[in-house]
Amino acid sequence: MQAAVVTAFGPADVFELTELPDPAPGPGQVAIDVTHAAVGLIDVHLRQGRYQDQKGLPQPPYVPGLEVAGTVRALGEGVEGLRVGEPVVTLSGTGAEGGYASVAVADAAMTVGLEGSGVDPALAVAAVPNAATAYLALTEVAHLKPGEHVLVHGALGGLASAFPGVARTLGAAGVTGTVRRPSLERAHASALPYDEVLASDDFAETVGDRRFDVVVDPVGGQVRTDSLRVMAPMGRMLLVGNASGDWQHTAPTNTLWGGNLAILGFAVGFHLPHHPEQARPAARAALEAIRRGLVPIDVQTLPLARAAEAHRRIEQGSVGGRIVLTP
Ligand SMILES: NC(=O)c1ccc[n+]([C@@H]2O[C@H](COP(=O)([O-])OP(=O)(O)OC[C@H]3O[C@@H](n4cnc5c(N)ncnc54)[C@H](OP(=O)(O)O)[C@@H]3O)[C@@H](O)[C@H]2O)c1
Repeated sequence: MQAAVVTAFGPADVFELTELPDPAPGPGQVAIDVTHAAVGLIDVHLRQGRYQDQKGLPQPPYVPGLEVAGTVRALGEGVEGLRVGEPVVTLSGTGAEGGYASVAVADAAMTVGLEGSGVDPALAVAAVPNAATAYLALTEVAHLKPGEHVLVHGALGGLASAFPGVARTLGAAGVTGTVRRPSLERAHASALPYDEVLASDDFAETVGDRRFDVVVDPVGGQVRTDSLRVMAPMGRMLLVGNASGDWQHTAPTNTLWGGNLAILGFAVGFHLPHHPEQARPAARAALEAIRRGLVPIDVQTLPLARAAEAHRRIEQGSVGGRIVLTP
């Protein structure tokens, strides 16, 4: 198979397009002929070596890529409910590697059939994993209730942009987004189902007396601090990332009990392996939101050989949607 390999931790030019042996599925796994592989900010952070000391995460040389779409090539021992040739998409379950290749192996429990969904594979890999994450985060962690108001930071980001549509399917009364000022124009032109998108540097003043029941924060840093000022009593702040790179951020815990506030964290890659039974229901909810046009993510495709360019574009913050690699 062809694979884009990260040969060392470092800048994007560490990528090398290489021929590797085709991987075979182990028990409970499937091999997939990849047609589309999603690229995410987490892939960039892993390649830069930000998590190099964390146990269980890949060490160079490795093939990055958490999520793929394609057709089932082979079934491992004991796999039921999927067939060879079936179009599928995977959720990010185990590991953090293998997707940037013409053949990938995934856990069958994290592999979801696309037949009859009406969703094409490029949009599926761009949107299903993040929309399934949004569904799990909003239902299992933030316990979003119908009629509640949601605030989403970094509103146009790959993960964030799945939240407004999924929140709507769960009955949210309103969804507000925030972005940094250079993204405001793009946000106002976006088809994502936000009621409004505000500048992130002064959103806490702009919203006036309005309060939010759920804050979705993949950004961190100052917007995380400012969010505490706009949360409703019994409000939940859902931490799902740290795009700002502010790893020193701390929370004022006495503000939490005094204001009846909660801060919750969710990382799908560390959750689903312990709850694989939640993967398919979440993916079905995601597909339904996508089929209804509620997750209109801008998908940009690039050939696998241009993986380095995909990473550079993410580093420059010039994507505004998702990049998908085609082997
Ligand atoms: N919890 C989970 O299960 C899970 C799953 C996937 C990803 N993640 C995490 O979620 C975060 C976002 O990932 P993604 O793939 O959605 O990334 P992305 O597409 O690059 O989106 C990140 C967004 O953050 C905003 N942002 C604000 N300050 C930023 C800064 N200083 N640098 C870069 N972006 C900044 C940008 O929006 P504006 O510039 O428009 O404001 C950008 O659209 C990452 O930390 C990732 O690791 C978590």
